[in-house]
Amino acid sequence: MEKGNLLVKNASELVTVSGYQAKAGKEMSDLHIIENGTVVIENGIITQVGKANEVVKQIDESKYHVIDATGKAVLPGFVDSHTHFVFGGYRPDEFSWRLQGVSYMEIMNRGGGIVNTVKSTREASKEKLINEGRKRLDSMLTFGVTTVEGKSGYGLDYETEIKQLDAMQELDQEHPIDIVKTFLGAHAVPKEYKGKEDAFITFMIEKVLPEVAERKLAQFCDIFCEENVFSIEQSRRLLTEAKKLGMGIKFHADEIVQIGGAELAAELGATSADHLLQASDQGIKDMAKAGVVATLLPGTAFSLKESYARARYMIDNHCPVALATDLNPGSCFTESIPLLFALATLYMEMTTEEAVTALTLNGAAALGRADKIGSIDVGKQGDIVILEFPSYNYIPYHIGVNTVEKVIKNGVLVFDKEKKKEETFKF
Ligand code: NIG
Ligand code: FE
Repeated sequence: MEKGNLLVKNASELVTVSGYQAKAGKEMSDLHIIENGTVVIENGIITQVGKANEVVKQIDESKYHVIDATGKAVLPGFVDSHTHFVFGGYRPDEFSWRLQGVSYMEIMNRGGGIVNTVKSTREASKEKLINEGRKRLDSMLTFGVTTVEGKSGYGLDYETEIKQLDAMQELDQEHPIDIVKTFLGAHAVPKEYKGKEDAFITFMIEKVLPEVAERKLAQFCDIFCEENVFSIEQSRRLLTEAKKLGMGIKFHADEIVQIGGAELAAELGATSADHLLQASDQGIKDMAKAGVVATLLPGTAFSLKESYARARYMIDNHCPVALATDLNPGSCFTESIPLLFALATLYMEMTTEEAVTALTLNGAAALGRADKIGSIDVGKQGDIVILEFPSYNYIPYHIGVNTVEKVIKNGVLVFDKEKKKEETFKF
């Protein structure tokens, strides 16, 4: 029996989310569900999708691993399209300070925050970063994540930025989760460049970006475009250079202060603009017109006690919305997909259907991969999640609890709640 040949049959709901590009507006509500559905995967690629009684008749079951999904919902693997999962050290003290009323930006301006993690990440060996990163990936897999985006940005120097990207490259090769790498060399201003932000951007453009592009260490370039961090002009300069080198663009925009990040994303044709808590009406409309995905990170708004991004306004104005965790050691330390569903549905006026689309097909689009992942369609990777309940509706309803029973990556069972890790990988 070929590895990656798998038949998942009789799903009470086969939630295909069908599509090959980002969905906007009302399209986000249509999950293209097949009742009593079956999926056939051959050599890791989906080859048939349909009603069980139609598909199974023509299939020789002895050639496949077979999973009977009677009474269970089957969905595309989740795509967590914005994380900072490779880092050294932790910052629990900052969480306590925030509880006492000190803001995230105040902590950063006092010399804490991101640069604190920069210190421990510079000190950590690549092996240490890999070992810690692996544990976080293992945890994400249990939540049904089959593709994750990971950023550098805790080096802010040549060696450490490259070390972080190399660590992710190695993890990508060894771990079932696919990793899409983003270069975030301009995540904060390091001590040695305080007051010399323009020179720091020049350093990134001249000394680090070319190597990242040349060695294909990252597919995307990111920047923390924010008041008192990097300006619109500095962001435009770095991102334009990245684009010239053939990289995609996705960046932290209009998170704390409205400075025109959404407008810049539209102007540059970014793949996504992320956070957007303060994005203007015009910026959102510009993004919709330019087809930029709005990647919303409600875990961060929740953890920083900020108001949420205006998902309803964005969707109603045809801007495609994706949801992601933003897992990082500072503003939002979580890999929890159930938390995202809870926040999106209960606090952001998103329907459950929209949240499912945002975490699958639109997440894939935020990584430029909607043609390969994010839905259960013929020709896509066999990345699939099986819930322990009969409907996708149970995901937000079972508040904050993981409802994922099995995860399949490229047609191979890689997580099963009922089995130990060693047994699962032998499947
Ligand atoms: O997306 N806002 C900037 N960057 C991260 C936080 C990184 C950190 O605090 O370590 C974010 O929230
Ligand atoms: Fe982030």
